[in-house]
Amino acid sequence: MPHRFKRKIAAQSREMPEPYEGSRPVPMIVVLIVASIFLWAVGYIGYTYQAQPSSYGDWRSAADFQREAGTAQVDGAQLYATHCVACHQATGKGLPGVFPPLSGSEWLEGAPDAGIQIVLHGVMGPLTVGGTKYDGSMPTFKDKLNDEEIAAVLTHIRGSFGNSAGAVKAAEVAAARQASADRSAPWNGDADLAALR
Ligand code: HEC
Repeated sequence: MPHRFKRKIAAQSREMPEPYEGSRPVPMIVVLIVASIFLWAVGYIGYTYQAQPSSYGDWRSAADFQREAGTAQVDGAQLYATHCVACHQATGKGLPGVFPPLSGSEWLEGAPDAGIQIVLHGVMGPLTVGGTKYDGSMPTFKDKLNDEEIAAVLTHIRGSFGNSAGAVKAAEVAAARQASADRSAPWNGDADLAALR
């Protein structure tokens, strides 16, 4: 072999091979690992999923959990602060001419029937409270509060703001709810309610 070829081959053999463009498939072991992680994840979600109404979301309150656990302590004062205070005010004195006072109200003395029906169905039309005629609109709570809650909030207002009427039992609310089950409109003020006092 001529001298110069020998030299060239020696130089070439020192170099790396020429780079070339081609495809390198993902190694089968990686494909298998990714596929098995994916299958595991699907299986895991399927296996741990528990059917719950999606309406639960984050809306459950501590009271709901207590109710589910059967340890509910319905707090009348808290219900008053949530559902009634906007109109009847924290003092129970209402707003003159607009929202009647609960404090000293004749509707909260004696038997609880009138109070229960007022909270269940609401009131519209002329209603006399403490000698003053009101003509506003009190919303219904029959679908918002259950028997225990209505009993608790009535017990609270009958024993607060200087009032001293007795406690109301959930069974009394249940009976009143039953008796007026076919009513869908609010009571018409004094005209409907006077008979209940
Ligand atoms: C949107 C305002 C509003 C809310 C909320 C409201 N009320 Fe009333 N309430 C009224 C109005 C107005 C009247 C008088 C209705 C009329 O004039 O016919 C009234 C009347 C009453 C009466 C009879 C009159 C009296 O002053 O004693 C009672 C009892 C009563 N509400 C209790 C409650 C309770 C308990 C709650 C909460 C569960 C509540 N109300 C929530 C507006 C409201």
